[in-house]
Parts: sequence; C-alpha cells; structure tokens
Amino acid sequence: MKKPFVKKIDGNAPSVRKLDFEGLDDLPKYYFHDNSIITHSLNSFHVIFPEGERFFIRSVKPFQDRIKSETLRNRVKAFIGQEVQHGKEHERVWDSLRKSALPVDRIAAFYHRIVYKVIFAFLGFVFGPKINLSITAALEHYTATLGEISLKYDLARDAYGDMRKLLVWHACEEIEHKSVVYDVMREVAPGYFLRIAGFTIATVMLWSFAILFQYWFLIADREATWKRFRQDRGYARDYMRLTVPPLFGGALQYFKPNFHPDQMGGYELAETSLAAL
Ligand SMILES: [Fe+2]
Ligand SMILES: [Fe+2]
Repeated sequence: MKKPFVKKIDGNAPSVRKLDFEGLDDLPKYYFHDNSIITHSLNSFHVIFPEGERFFIRSVKPFQDRIKSETLRNRVKAFIGQEVQHGKEHERVWDSLRKSALPVDRIAAFYHRIVYKVIFAFLGFVFGPKINLSITAALEHYTATLGEISLKYDLARDAYGDMRKLLVWHACEEIEHKSVVYDVMREVAPGYFLRIAGFTIATVMLWSFAILFQYWFLIADREATWKRFRQDRGYARDYMRLTVPPLFGGALQYFKPNFHPDQMGGYELAETSLAAL
C-alpha cells in the first residue's frame, strides 16, 4: 500500500489519495475475525458502495455549474475523485468473493436493476434531480456517521490485512468530504421538506438493502451453517451494540432544522487515524 500521509485531512479542501491496497482480490473467505456474520455484512457494503458512489457522482454533477463559490466547486471535484477511488477499491474485493463461490455478481446485478434502473430512476423522473441530491446528502451523513463510529471504537481492528486499511481510509475520507453535498444542497435546494424526504428514502433504501444482501450472502454460503451462525452471533451482537445506538443518534441529528454535518465533528479523529495507517 502507498503511504497516504502526504495529504492531511481537510474538510475545506479534501484530497484524492490513490492507495494501492494489497491482497483485496485474494482475501480469506471470512476476513473479519473469522466471523461469517460481520464478513457478510461488510460484503453487502462492498456491493452497495461502488454503484452507490457512482449514483452520488451522477446526483451532484447536474448542479456543479450552479455553485457560486470556487472553494465549493473544488470540494465537489475532490468529492467526486474520492468516491471514484472508493468504488474502485471496494470492487476489487469482488474477486475474493468470486473465488469463495459467493453470488456477488448476481446480487450486484439485482441491486443495479432494482435500485438504480427502477426505484431511483422513477424518483428522479417524478421529482426531478433535486431528490437525488437530497438522497445523496443523506447517505453521506450515514457514511460519515458510520465512519466516525468505526474510527472511535476501532471497529476495523479485526479485519484481515489491507482490508483494515481499506475500511479506515474510506471512513477517514467520508468524514473529510461529509459536508460537500450538503453544502451544494443548501445552495441549490435548501428546503427542509426536500432534505427530510431524501433522508427518509435514503434510510429505507440503505438499511433494507444492506440487511437483505447480508442475509443473501449468508444463505448462499454453504459453509455458513446454522451452527456457525450461532457461534458467530455473540461477537456480531457486540458490534451491533456499539454501532446502532450512536448511528441512531446521528440519524436523529439530521432532523434538526439548523443541522449541518460539521456539527458532528470527527475531523481530528480522521486525521489521527489516517496518519496511523
Ligand atoms: Fe465513499
Ligand atoms: Fe462519501
């Protein structure tokens, strides 16, 4: 992996960091503490992120020309560059999943068709491109909140090899660019109703598909027997107990009329975590 320390975390001027992680295409089947439940939960996100991040980019691009401040225009460019890198690195994990005979391509094709060709296409057609921007701003709030929780509790510590670095790097950059899309939305579509509508859609979509794909992987995995599920669920439950309450609290913050992602903090934590990679 390339040394990433050259570019510090800066919410006002995010940087694109191209890291060459090693071995993402050849991971052990249960690369997270030999735990099938957490590994398949992460696999679900390896499928969701690349297509989701391409959707983020498509959602913000139609508004780029309407942004007045040059600083924000540059932040949008960096945001796009970062999301392209995230998608690429998460997609490299798919080779590992194929080697483990997991149905990653089938799940990805289903996800692409249902979410992007049907649901989001329908929403964009009916409500216009601002709803996609609002959904993206909401999903960015979730990725930044999840990133902050994972760094705070060092949740990636039991991931194998460079998978740990991938998760930490992604968390740091999600924190770094967390307010970019929100600031674009404030400029071009500042209404409270639109913000909350996007957040509601984002919440239902993200968590229903994240759980569906986790269980799809678990059910398709012949080695993930009921006995193994019972063995693994205690450790997985500990993770859930650490993650769900602050995630819920972070979600509630989004409903405050004067909410801004910068109120959540996390920049210093991202900087120290990235420097320690
Ligand atoms: Fe990302
Ligand atoms: Fe992001």
